[in-house]
Amino acid sequence: MSDSVNTTELHQFGADYSYFCTKAAEFTGINLHNYKGRQIYRRLVNYMNRRNIPDFATFAMRLQRDPGEVARLVEYLTINVSDFFRNPEHWEALAREIVPLLADSAKWRIRVWSAGSAAGQEAYSAAITFAECSVDDVFILGTDIDETSLGKARAAKYTSAEVKSVPKPLLRKYFRKEADLHVVQDSIRRMVSFRRHDLLSSEYPGSMDLIICRNVIIYFSEHSKQDVIARLASSLRPGGVLFMGATEAIFNAQDYGLKQIRPFFYRRSP
Ligand SMILES: C[S@@+](CC[C@H](N)C(=O)[O-])C[C@H]1O[C@@H](n2cnc3c(N)ncnc32)[C@H](O)[C@@H]1O
Repeated sequence: MSDSVNTTELHQFGADYSYFCTKAAEFTGINLHNYKGRQIYRRLVNYMNRRNIPDFATFAMRLQRDPGEVARLVEYLTINVSDFFRNPEHWEALAREIVPLLADSAKWRIRVWSAGSAAGQEAYSAAITFAECSVDDVFILGTDIDETSLGKARAAKYTSAEVKSVPKPLLRKYFRKEADLHVVQDSIRRMVSFRRHDLLSSEYPGSMDLIICRNVIIYFSEHSKQDVIARLASSLRPGGVLFMGATEAIFNAQDYGLKQIRPFFYRRSP
């Protein structure tokens, strides 16, 4: 069964749902048509049950009246779970094989994009990885659709639970303690900048040496997924590398002008 959704398919879920999708796009800026149709519908129904919202028409009305309702829905829809050095073996491969490759072939400052950066864990993991490889002339752009996550990313303060996956020597070297929180050192923060970007509708930045887009497109419809991969590939400079999540292998990489150079890393033809 296809996981993509189109307007005809949406009508399967009823006119109220179509109306709700229009209102949700208006108030949250998120176009639900681009996400996996049945999955997002089921998640919304669960959410409404939990919050005692009787139907989609009522839900749409609440979005119109209450900005808090809009913020809660955005947070729920975007699933902003993240971690530092998620799948550590892939970050080790990045440090061992990809960073030297990029450093050798870069003509000027290395440009990295963490697309769907949640609360900054991925962008700071990248900055620490480059710093550990003694490659300092790096600019890292972290983007996300969710403003709350971006605010947290800019603050760069994490609880002990949130930094649990940071190896102890790196925690000591790149974070300082502020009361109960761990704050990313300025030398790392200076490498990173955050801004809002919607992978489904914003213009993409170009000439990237490395794009990290992990655990984001799994939630998109098949059509949106393909569109996003094509646009990410075009955002790479020739020879640039796309780093995907552990469940997001690209099986037809050559269709996007990419070549798999090791699991989850794809290089644009130099
Ligand atoms: C599960 S988190 C993954 C975070 C990080 N990349 C990682 O692998 O740990 C997914 C992130 O994608 C963001 N996201 C969802 N839809 C998006 C979109 N259309 N454009 C940009 N970011 C989006 C969410 O807000 C969330 O922060």
